[in-house]
Amino acid sequence: MKYAAKIIGTGCAFPERRMTNNDIVNRLEEEDVATDDRWIHERTGIRERRFSDPSNPEERNSSLGVAAARKALEMAGRTPEDVDQIIYATCSPDTLLPSTACWFQHKIGASRAWAMDLNAACSGFVYGLATADQFIKSGQTRTALVVGAEVLNPFINWRDRGTGILFGDGAGAAVVERTAPEAPARILSSHLLSDGNLWELLYIPAGGSSMELTPERFAENMHKMRMNGKEIFKVAVRTLSEFANRALESNGFTIDDLDWFVPHQANYRIIEAVVRRIGCPREKVIVNVDRYGNTSAATIPTALDEAVRDGRIQAGQLILLDCFGAGLTYGAILIRW
Ligand code: UT7
Repeated sequence: MKYAAKIIGTGCAFPERRMTNNDIVNRLEEEDVATDDRWIHERTGIRERRFSDPSNPEERNSSLGVAAARKALEMAGRTPEDVDQIIYATCSPDTLLPSTACWFQHKIGASRAWAMDLNAACSGFVYGLATADQFIKSGQTRTALVVGAEVLNPFINWRDRGTGILFGDGAGAAVVERTAPEAPARILSSHLLSDGNLWELLYIPAGGSSMELTPERFAENMHKMRMNGKEIFKVAVRTLSEFANRALESNGFTIDDLDWFVPHQANYRIIEAVVRRIGCPREKVIVNVDRYGNTSAATIPTALDEAVRDGRIQAGQLILLDCFGAGLTYGAILIRW
């Protein structure tokens, strides 16, 4: 292999509007759905999340992605013109056509790049980083921008307290660049898997080509998320644990070698159950679900960026990204920082 890939900059961005658990309680009440702040916090670890204002062009999915990517480029000392490849992970695109990646490219001005969307739901950033890693290793890409960004609030089903309490909006980005194959700081491995048999655990029935959105379907909220939270919870705990162990073992490491664990931030109880299973000390886990809720493809890059910027993540450390999402999709990436 001629090359390896390395993250040289990270960034994140969130919309202005804070939605506390009590704001969610009030919104659900409008649909006659009962919940309370204490239940939400005890069962999910979430205290607040951010919601985009769809009428504000600065808070569109692609605009949040641009704000996150500008910070990542600044940290990396690169400009949009340095970017060869844009991988935009999202399941809440600005529009079905064109891709959000192309909206993003238009706004950030990366005219040398080719840009594509990647939909692996909450696993999107990890899938995107694994893709960038392979393009860089093949020699085709020198500098890639991987973005994980979501504006999920328009897809929340307010008649269902499962999705209403969990999701939030935000964006995270990473600049990934070519390095020497045996460079100390590089992406060490990626393990990815999907199980389409479990599609029914989280999906949106209408609005795609298989089910056009009609006024009747709109009235039945068919364009909003349907989720079996209880089942996803179980699969998530099992697969996050399996992928964490697989990533470490395949590189000859144990949990003692790990410096930071960055799991998908879906629900703090899922994270707790996984760290118990894999024997990871709580001090090594990076968490932001309390402040931002589940931002799907944005959870891992935003949590990563926070830990890079506040100095927790240092050169030479071993970092594990671990995800699951609708599809279902799973994956883990091990990085020597
Ligand atoms: O990013 C990937 C996407 N999704 C996920 O990762 C979701 C994973 N799942 C979850 O996070 C959890 O399943 C939820 C937070 C969605 C639900 O929590 P849970 O602990 O699995 O609740 P449950 O469905 O097992 O319900 C337990 C009890 C039930 O009452 P009874 O039957 O025991 O009396 C529910 O009716 O809690 C009740 N309940 C609620 N009460 C107040 C369920 N949701 C709520 C609520 N407020 N929002």
